[in-house]
Amino acid sequence: MEHGTLESCFGETTLPIKDPHRLQLALVETGGDQQFLPWKNGPVPQDLEILMKIENRISLVEEILNARKLEMGNDYPGYKNHVYRMIHFCFALYDCKSEECEKIIIAGCFHDLGIWPDNTIDYLLPSIALAKEYLTQNGLDHWFAEIKLMIDMHHKLTPYRDEHYPLVEVFRKGDLVDFSLGIVKCGLPKSFIKRVKERFPNAGFHKRLVQLELGWVSKHPSNPLPILKW
Ligand SMILES: [Fe+2]
Repeated sequence: MEHGTLESCFGETTLPIKDPHRLQLALVETGGDQQFLPWKNGPVPQDLEILMKIENRISLVEEILNARKLEMGNDYPGYKNHVYRMIHFCFALYDCKSEECEKIIIAGCFHDLGIWPDNTIDYLLPSIALAKEYLTQNGLDHWFAEIKLMIDMHHKLTPYRDEHYPLVEVFRKGDLVDFSLGIVKCGLPKSFIKRVKERFPNAGFHKRLVQLELGWVSKHPSNPLPILKW
């Protein structure tokens, strides 16, 4: 594009452009340090979460959880949405290969499943047992060691460090983002967390956890939080 030299016009720096139709055109630099935000008031969020896709339905989640729907009763929608939320947070935290995605989905479905049918807050070992049963039935026993760690360490209060099993820490963080209701973000954009929470509403899941915890504490005052690890 042919253009002239910079000149001042109406107090702004302009760059005249030579137009073949003889229109008088110029690029104008308006000055100021305000960033141009094309989506500022639009429906599209401004930050990177625009790239983070939300899957409304994951067939493996539906298949695994649907098989347990009856024993979960009224808790089913709340738990399923928790699973969907924490899976999405894991996927956003870590660039998974397809096999890793499948491991996160399976661990996600089973990680709190030991709550039912006994309505216990001491659910880690029962959840691991259910996951083992599923893995064996589906010829995936070789994944058990990793998925066991993902479930067993998901309420660890400090980071889990093992370069052989990076998913364990991803999974811990994904659950923590949701367990904390998004207060702990683990580096995820606030707008993405909000979008996931809106897409998969809480449906009483955290309220149910509080009820279970209160029932547990009244019977086990010396061991109030059996699922936490340091
Ligand atoms: Fe959880």
